[in-house]
Amino acid sequence: ILMVGKWFPTGAHKVGAAYGCLAPRIITGEFDPDYHKAVWPSTGNYCRGGAFDSKIMDTEAIAILPEEMSRERFEWLRDEAEATVIATPGSESNVKEIYDKCWELRETRDDVVIFNQFDEFGNAAWHYNITGSAIEEIYDLVKTDKSQLAAYVSATGSAGTIAAGDYLRTKFPFLKVVASEALQCPTILRNGFGAHRIEGIGDKHIPWIHNVKNTDAVTAIDDEDTMRLLRLFNEKEGHEYLKSIGVSDETIKNLPLMGISSIGNLLSAIKTAKYFEMNADDVIFTVATDSSAMYLSRIDELRKERGNYSELQAAKDYEKCLAGQVTDNMRELNYQDRRAIHNLKYFTWVEQQAKDIHDLEALWYDRSVWDTMFHQVQRWDELITEFNERTGLLKIL
Ligand SMILES: Cc1ncc(COP(=O)(O)O)c(C=O)c1O
Repeated sequence: ILMVGKWFPTGAHKVGAAYGCLAPRIITGEFDPDYHKAVWPSTGNYCRGGAFDSKIMDTEAIAILPEEMSRERFEWLRDEAEATVIATPGSESNVKEIYDKCWELRETRDDVVIFNQFDEFGNAAWHYNITGSAIEEIYDLVKTDKSQLAAYVSATGSAGTIAAGDYLRTKFPFLKVVASEALQCPTILRNGFGAHRIEGIGDKHIPWIHNVKNTDAVTAIDDEDTMRLLRLFNEKEGHEYLKSIGVSDETIKNLPLMGISSIGNLLSAIKTAKYFEMNADDVIFTVATDSSAMYLSRIDELRKERGNYSELQAAKDYEKCLAGQVTDNMRELNYQDRRAIHNLKYFTWVEQQAKDIHDLEALWYDRSVWDTMFHQVQRWDELITEFNERTGLLKIL
């Protein structure tokens, strides 16, 4: 089951994650919308979400993202959100350059508050509470007597979305939580690095907020497969081919609801099903963070580079990239594997970003730390209610 993000106001569900970071800072007075500017570092959808939330509050947003991200992201930030945009060098996986820009802003201005999705627990807490419980609700609607909620699959960028797996674990202890990344930048699978084309994920480090102890497996998806399927799912000849092999009109109509990372999630779900030998009673959940609307320029680029699409190419892409998915480039993670992945956080967060080593250790050893983090939302809700009463705004509205 694929949960669709396109219907959120920015066309991606990260608008909620941004809200999860912003709301606590407003109600605790750490962010003053009349004075501060909200800085949203990301590779696109989170900073678009933050810019959207900032605009609603009539406050200025500064979006930081790599210069090679899709044209649609930049156009939206400029035209819809009217945000100040800072483009940093590189592409999807160049997050270190974004962090460097954040440090520069922090050191030179006192009117900025940086909402770094990679270390803000509000991001993970939003997904734990909202995405997690939405999945549970949907599962309750579709399950049969034989069903099992068998897996939750999520590509990791900031590792906010995967936190829904922490919520689901409390309800379905045997579920498999699967992280996915690009084969061209397999940081979890192989401590790897590299540029890739699955925009929104795989940023060459382990986010501070990724509870790696709760990740059961990792899959690495070839970005060439996702790009070929992006064409299959969005080109007219692709749809004609899919119809000819019996795919329903309804399904074909919905295929553009998947952006590139969503296609990656779909492939990761297929690998997961094959690896764990699942059957029709096993329900796998994953998310379509955004839709192909964010990548029409990428489809144009592929057309220019490779020529017009054809039914023959569609058949090849279907067989190789979808039906041909197997269990290569994935690993089930044991305790020590997870520990090794967690340890990678040291290099980014302690050495580069000035986190305390004791906090790093606590994230691994302190058994209450994640629960406390995820359950802060009850307190935030109380503070939001108090805040609304104090300002009287809701009564006027
Ligand atoms: C298109 C897309 N897919 C996947 C992700 C990864 O989600 P998360 O950052 O919650 O890990 C993002 C993050 O912004 C994204 O923009």
